[in-house]
Amino acid sequence: MTTTSTSTTIPTESAQNIGIIGLGRMGTAIAKNILKSGFKVVVYNRSEEKTVPLTELGATKARTPKEVALKSDIVVSSLRDNDAVLDVVSGEDGILSGFQPKKAHIGTSTISPSLSTKLAGMHEKNGSLYLAAPVLGNPAAAKEAKLTTFVAGDVASVKRCERVFKSYSQLLI
Ligand SMILES: NC(=O)c1ccc[n+]([C@@H]2O[C@H](COP(=O)([O-])OP(=O)(O)OC[C@H]3O[C@@H](n4cnc5c(N)ncnc54)[C@H](OP(=O)(O)O)[C@@H]3O)[C@@H](O)[C@H]2O)c1
Repeated sequence: MTTTSTSTTIPTESAQNIGIIGLGRMGTAIAKNILKSGFKVVVYNRSEEKTVPLTELGATKARTPKEVALKSDIVVSSLRDNDAVLDVVSGEDGILSGFQPKKAHIGTSTISPSLSTKLAGMHEKNGSLYLAAPVLGNPAAAKEAKLTTFVAGDVASVKRCERVFKSYSQLLI
């Protein structure tokens, strides 16, 4: 895709800043594919050393989930379980402490339906949006951008995030 500018100044999605929180086996592969698609990427991981492969590829490192939220239009999380997700969203220096209205959080972790509902409510209260988007696949499929994403949430936001989903998913359901 050419980046030559035209007289229209509507920003394209490729100009958006994407934050990625959780750089485990799945999160690292997802982050690399989002970077490859031309987005500006900010990363955070609890164990800081896992950010190095991403910063070497051009991502910026953040010190807290809050910093990621402040610097991103869309945040993608890939965390181990319910407790990790709740902590990263609502803990001190969590996503919600830095997320402005209209921003979207894509949750790719496998979590319980009740937590998913709770997260949607917490984001709604904040004016931001939660898209529950667990993935089917494994780290090898994630590396090849061949995950299947099952997404639930606001339709307009899903559309707005489509290029992000497609950067790491072969199928969006
Ligand atoms: N692996 C698969 O084949 C697969 C397939 C489909 C879906 N999933 C789902 O994808 C998600 C990620 O899986 P994964 O295999 O990438 O896991 P993983 O390699 O174990 O990575 C887990 C990530 O969560 C972070 N984390 C854990 N507890 C945390 C906490 N309390 N606060 C902050 N960060 C925390 C870890 O940070 P540290 O580096 O600091 O430990 C790491 O970045 C899970 O929900 C899993 O069920 C996995």
